Order: sequence, then C-alpha cells, then structure tokens
Amino acid sequence: MMPVHARLDALFFAHQQALLDRDAPRALLTFTVFRDTLLHHARDEESQVLPLYVACGGDASDSPSAQFRIEHDKLRRFLAELEPRLESLCTLAVASDRSAADRELLGILDRESWFKNLLVHHDLRERNALYRLLSAECDEERQRAALAAMGRNGA
Ligand SMILES: [Fe+2]
Ligand SMILES: [Fe+2]
Repeated sequence: MMPVHARLDALFFAHQQALLDRDAPRALLTFTVFRDTLLHHARDEESQVLPLYVACGGDASDSPSAQFRIEHDKLRRFLAELEPRLESLCTLAVASDRSAADRELLGILDRESWFKNLLVHHDLRERNALYRLLSAECDEERQRAALAAMGRNGA
C-alpha cells in the first residue's frame, strides 16, 4: 500500500505548488484529484485491510483498528472543510480582490499544515503498526486476496 501513500504525497505537493503559484483553479482541480484518491484509499483500507488486521490480532495491539477509522474520519472532515475554501479562493481570484484572496490563501495554507501533520502521523502509524503487523502475522494468501479486491476497486 505504500506506493499509494507516495502517490498521495505527490498529488498534495502538486496542489500546494498550484497554491504557491496563486493559480486557484489549478489548486482546486489538483485538490479534487488528491481528495478522490485519498477517499478511495481510505474506503479500501476500511473494507479490505482493517478487517484483515483485526483477524490477525490488530485490535489487541496498541494501535487498534478503531484508531485508524477515527483518523480517516478526521482526514475526511479536513477534506470537506478545504474544498469550499478553495472554491471561495477561485471566486476571490476572479473578482481580483487581492487582500481577501491573500487572507483566504494564508488561511488555507495554515489549515493544510494541520492536515499534513495529521496525514504524516497517520502514514507513520500505518507503516509501523498496520502494515507491519499484516506482513508479520497474516498469511500471504489472505494479503494477496485483499490486494486483489482493492485492485478490483481501482486502487
Ligand atoms: Fe493508507
Ligand atoms: Fe489510512
């Protein structure tokens, strides 16, 4: 699953580059690609990976499956908050309201820095707990079946 995480990092970087370029429409477009990829990945983990993690003893560890679901919910809330702010940035850019656009841009970057912290924290927990336990405790056939199911969903 780690290639998906690298792809997410690259997509978010492309989005923030668009913000730095003050290209609001591109920032919104790149954000929607990032958002859709992250939502899809989180859904896949919840339907395919976490049940396997539970079956392999994950809930008895100090990173129970509920913790990953809570973090996914937090990520979703951030995504839902950011989209209208990026839409508003587009409107302000079209209206050529430089001061208001600057304020909104700085507000977005501030929220995105919180979001990035959460994403980094989540990525580390998945690397160090979720995927590590699966590769150590779960038989390869079940891992392959989960990966294949995610592939069918377009992951
Ligand atoms: Fe993940
Ligand atoms: Fe995740």
